[in-house]
Amino acid sequence: MMRLDKFLVATHTATRSEAKNMIKRGRIFVNDEKATSSDIKIDESQDVITIDGNVINYSRYEYIILNKPAGFVSATKDNTCQTVMDIINSPNKNLFPVGRLDKDTEGLMLITDDGALAHNLLAPGKHVDKTYYARVEGNVTEVTVDAFANGVIIDGDYMTQPAKLDIINSGDISEVRVTIHEGRFHQIKKMFLSQNMKVIYLKRLSMKNLVLDDDLEIGNFRKLTEEEINDLKN
Ligand code: URA
Repeated sequence: MMRLDKFLVATHTATRSEAKNMIKRGRIFVNDEKATSSDIKIDESQDVITIDGNVINYSRYEYIILNKPAGFVSATKDNTCQTVMDIINSPNKNLFPVGRLDKDTEGLMLITDDGALAHNLLAPGKHVDKTYYARVEGNVTEVTVDAFANGVIIDGDYMTQPAKLDIINSGDISEVRVTIHEGRFHQIKKMFLSQNMKVIYLKRLSMKNLVLDDDLEIGNFRKLTEEEINDLKN
């Protein structure tokens, strides 16, 4: 059991003063009954709390998917560049990006304050599949597909784990999808460089079961659904 205003703050729906206002304005319902005061007690595991008719799920943590634009660094702070956190612009200061995308890479970025989940997705040996779309200068062929499947040498002496390469188009500029489950610095770019090819555009499409939606425009973000959160945890 907890106070309604505390629930609204804990679910990052509102600050304490905003919570009061929302309740005053009749925007919050508890099990189909309009909430009349901030200090009523609710059962966060049983009661259905809504704001403007939308259910507020109780979770200690926040989970956000961002379609990262180029030009932003995936860090919480940077002295010279704008960060993905500047886009989210949340009052929740515990949020951080899970893993890194290069400044010029676009696409799926998970942002959360759930450290245990981040650890499970990133810890060496626990790395999950990440799929990227890439445009590459060079003619990607079955030779490249085999090289990626067998592992290539990057960083002087590191042999990459098997990666799956799907050719969408090949020519002077090729279009591909690559799936890796490691996360070394500049990994995809270095893997292509090992084959004398240059990545000229890179976008992350998915991470484990989490897929970037087609209609989440670049620079936009949304909360994960309960189903997406459960899939990431399992
Ligand atoms: N590999 C790269 O080279 N860059 C990224 O941003 C992600 C994977």
